[in-house]
Amino acid sequence: MTDVDFGTYHHSTPEESKQIREDAAKAFSKLLRPLYPSTATLKILDAGCGLGFLTYAAAKRFPKATITGVDLFRHGSVSDLSIDKVVQNMKSLGIVSRTSFLKHDLTKPIKSDVQFDLALSNLVFHNMGKKRFNAYGTVFDVLKPGGCFVMGDLFPRGKADMDYFRERSTLVEELDQGGSGRWRYQIKVLRKA
Ligand SMILES: C[S@@+](CC[C@H](N)C(=O)[O-])C[C@H]1O[C@@H](n2cnc3c(N)ncnc32)[C@H](O)[C@@H]1O
Repeated sequence: MTDVDFGTYHHSTPEESKQIREDAAKAFSKLLRPLYPSTATLKILDAGCGLGFLTYAAAKRFPKATITGVDLFRHGSVSDLSIDKVVQNMKSLGIVSRTSFLKHDLTKPIKSDVQFDLALSNLVFHNMGKKRFNAYGTVFDVLKPGGCFVMGDLFPRGKADMDYFRERSTLVEELDQGGSGRWRYQIKVLRKA
């Protein structure tokens, strides 16, 4: 696993990115534990998967799950981003057969009949401005009724995001990791109505 590289986040050093991922992995694991048994054969979406950090965390937590990562796969908020690189990471981690990747803009609907049991995302929507509401919609549209969307992100203060989530889901759990200025890093567990 030495050749696995989940990348460096924009505005962050490699060490800070590693620390952000370690903290997020622990928090996601804690929140996912009570939701589904580890033996569940889930179809999981990793929205804005980047180089597969959360794809790997989900694959470890649910060894029988299959995970689809969706991303723009364009240079930007994570270094050296490409489908080839995320596939290489999954090969190195021994989970390539349980993963697939789709290049797609989440602010637009996903044209597919596949419905997911669980959707995950980390640090994806906060840079999209108002278009983030379209992207939230894309994820909810491909989630089965009763399925959970577990999203870690920097949320702006204010209630617009929660107002949107309340229309489509119930808030099951929320972990607030704090923040500064306008933003707070929170992980929300939302169950689709
Ligand atoms: C900060 S990175 C986080 C990557 C990964 N979730 C992680 O935690 O390591 C944000 C990711 O969101 C993706 N992204 C941003 N806007 C997107 C959009 N409109 N559609 C799909 N992916 C998008 C970026 O390409 C990038 O991979």
